[in-house]
Amino acid sequence: MYSINFGKSGIKVPAVAVGCMRISDMSEKEVSAFIDTALSLGANFFDHADIYGGGRSETVFGKAMSSSLRDGIIIQTKCGIRRGFFDFSYEHIINSVDGSLKRLGTEYIDVLLLHRPDALMEPDEVARAFEYLKTSGKVRHFGVSNQNPYQMQLLQNSLTVPICANQLQFSAMHTPMIQFGINVNMQNESGINRDGGVLDFCRLNRITVQAWSPMQYGYFEGCFVDNEKFPELNETLLKIGDKYGVSKSAIAIAWILRHPAKIQAVTGTTNLARLADSLKASEIMLSREEWYEIYCAAGNVLP
Ligand SMILES: NC(=O)c1ccc[n+]([C@@H]2O[C@H](COP(=O)([O-])OP(=O)(O)OC[C@H]3O[C@@H](n4cnc5c(N)ncnc54)[C@H](OP(=O)(O)O)[C@@H]3O)[C@@H](O)[C@H]2O)c1
Repeated sequence: MYSINFGKSGIKVPAVAVGCMRISDMSEKEVSAFIDTALSLGANFFDHADIYGGGRSETVFGKAMSSSLRDGIIIQTKCGIRRGFFDFSYEHIINSVDGSLKRLGTEYIDVLLLHRPDALMEPDEVARAFEYLKTSGKVRHFGVSNQNPYQMQLLQNSLTVPICANQLQFSAMHTPMIQFGINVNMQNESGINRDGGVLDFCRLNRITVQAWSPMQYGYFEGCFVDNEKFPELNETLLKIGDKYGVSKSAIAIAWILRHPAKIQAVTGTTNLARLADSLKASEIMLSREEWYEIYCAAGNVLP
């Protein structure tokens, strides 16, 4: 597993992170095997959120992670989504982190992300919360998720710590942040800039883009790998996978990693074989032609 710089944090992180959104119903023993499998393949970065499984994902992870492993593990979690609204208030951020620390059974969180934009965000209030969390040693690095460039800039203007990461939906089947850059000034659906140019903004400002749902199409509509709705994409993933001796899932993740923005892919599988398989993606460097072939097989048209 190769490493990438994590924004301006000064730390290095594995190119593939392990998502923990779906582990809430696993047993402690199963999560322990899940952690061991990831670590044995060099994936020591685990992505959580206070709301995953209503807190159960963090709880079972905290119980399964032996304390001797803690220093070798990078734990990222998120806050800001509440039942029916978004909340970047000082009180909620601090309370959420305290809850995550307790559930995870740890004294510090490596990375805290603001989960989804809160329309009522007060940047100075968030800055005050981040400063407290940093100086108290509860959180080491900070980032956002699902934010556009102006939202990040507005927040960064008040912060004394850098925004290190922005976690966004991105996969071969979810490419708006690529499409509009290929279709500049075209009067078609693909030419619509939906995110304010977030990918280039993150590259310009050394903010690591993390790709969530690397296997899903739509908004959690299902996995596109082995899905008969996407025959051309699956044929292409299979053909390229055969060439490199890896699965279609590994190629789908290698497609994300191939982008020069040095995107960190966040896996979502809870299946150990599929996890091991997906982590092999970091060994594959797709050619430019293969990358475009997959992009087009997913239904995109080049101008
Ligand atoms: N920031 C945000 O707003 C946000 C939103 C969503 C997710 N996330 C993060 O991103 C992570 C990944 O998202 P995700 O869970 O939607 O990821 P995903 O990898 O796109 O989807 C994983 C799901 O697809 C299933 N699947 C079926 N066949 C598969 C195959 N061949 N390979 C891989 N998975 C297959 C998995 O089932 P099995 O478990 O049986 O393999 C699992 O249910 C989450 O865990 C979370 O940490 C962040």
